[in-house]
Amino acid sequence: ERQKSQKKLGISISFLTLCKVLLIKSEDMKKLTITAIINRLTYDMLNETDKKLIDGAKKATESSYSPYSQFAVGAAALLANGTIVSGSNQENAAFPSGTCAERTTRFYANSQHRDQAVHTLAVAAYTQGAFLDIPISPCGACRQVILEVEKRYNHPIRILLFGENEIYEIKSIRDLLPLSFDEDFLK
Ligand code: THU
Repeated sequence: ERQKSQKKLGISISFLTLCKVLLIKSEDMKKLTITAIINRLTYDMLNETDKKLIDGAKKATESSYSPYSQFAVGAAALLANGTIVSGSNQENAAFPSGTCAERTTRFYANSQHRDQAVHTLAVAAYTQGAFLDIPISPCGACRQVILEVEKRYNHPIRILLFGENEIYEIKSIRDLLPLSFDEDFLK
């Protein structure tokens, strides 16, 4: 019994200490607030090139190979010289071996047009017989890959995320990937 209550006491004391430490910590804490600016647009508000890009991303969903997720994603990239390239997600029975539409498109663009920066990347997703109502959100790995292209070509990549109800416009991938890890850490 005595051992039990001593143990209990020990636990309550260390719990109190922990609370105190947390309290002091939260009083001292400085905060870093990160803001991302996302413009909310509709298709009608886009210029002709952006409309073409969104149409290209939607069209690219048709070439998606997504038998496992039934989630078809298409992307279209506008290059510095005005060329538009597109791609889609390509899945594999060994799940991690597949790639997202953004990466397929980006790797294709940089392989075929090595000297051209990507200026805008549009993305659309189609599932269960319809395009998403809300804008598709690129996965973390794709954000990291897009960041590398921004850095490599020293040009921000504008991103257009399509949804039937609205389209998100993001001026640089940095807005979608705060506190990112990049080559500067490796110098
Ligand atoms: N996917 C993309 O291609 N892009 C995204 O932005 C999100 C997810 C793909 C990966 C996988 O083939 C399927 O969608 C379901 O996750």
